[in-house]
Amino acid sequence: MNNQPLLEAVNLSKRYEDGALAVNNVSFFVKPGEIFAMLGGNGAGKTTTINIFLNFIEPTSGEARINGISSHVEPLKAKQHVAFVSENVMLYTNFTAIQNLDYFVRLGGKTQYTKDDYRKVLLRVGLQEEAHNKKLKGFSKGMRQKCGIAVAILKDAPAILLDEPTSGLDPKSGFEFIQLLDSLRNEGKAILMSTHDIFRAKEIADTIGIMRQGNLVMQKSREELSGENLEQLYMNFMAGVYE
Ligand SMILES: Nc1ncnc2c1ncn2[C@@H]1O[C@H](COP(=O)(O)OP(=O)(O)O)[C@@H](O)[C@H]1O
Ligand SMILES: [Mg+2]
Repeated sequence: MNNQPLLEAVNLSKRYEDGALAVNNVSFFVKPGEIFAMLGGNGAGKTTTINIFLNFIEPTSGEARINGISSHVEPLKAKQHVAFVSENVMLYTNFTAIQNLDYFVRLGGKTQYTKDDYRKVLLRVGLQEEAHNKKLKGFSKGMRQKCGIAVAILKDAPAILLDEPTSGLDPKSGFEFIQLLDSLRNEGKAILMSTHDIFRAKEIADTIGIMRQGNLVMQKSREELSGENLEQLYMNFMAGVYE
């Protein structure tokens, strides 16, 4: 397996038109088989960072690279290597789970999958078979989230971005979701996620970053964090104790 970073922020900054400095000179990378979890309060700059990778917004300076390709210079090429799962999964509520998969996976250019592939991936993400042919209308947030990650898995990209994927999930769904991320990591995916869930982040992440007012104020590996009280550390960073 190639060990170059699949996701890389290089001196990334974003100042919105109204003057707000949402991301300030942030640098980090995520290699294949690694999970990087970004923690931070509301407005810390997590979504802005993820959205720059996806070229939803342009950086003011620096760049976000996907598989070495700058997301704002060659967006179409860069985005081939990444799948995205958002907090509010955008799927059609009038379509069934299988129909959503078929629609979005084809839209992404993958036409080789069969009904059985859809069935298998939905089972893998934990959506019970009875629900596969039901409309999303009646689904819980957790069930919709599972469909969203199924679409991401079928895109078969080496990197996955997730913006608060576990927010609004009940504890069981949250736990299953984390297990799924673990299995994707074991397949060699590079995963960048934002989350509010300190405990799950500590459980799953290889590296944890803490963002505060646009700055990546802490970045530590699992080894560096062993024996540390992450929650206390987080509170101290939020309070500016280390400035
Ligand atoms: N489209 C926008 N225009 C102007 N300011 C924005 C926009 N989106 C986000 N911001 C500001 O940028 C900062 C970072 O926001 P965001 O990236 O959404 O943080 P997070 O995801 O960590 O909550 C906040 O101060 C927010 O108000
Ligand atoms: Mg956000």
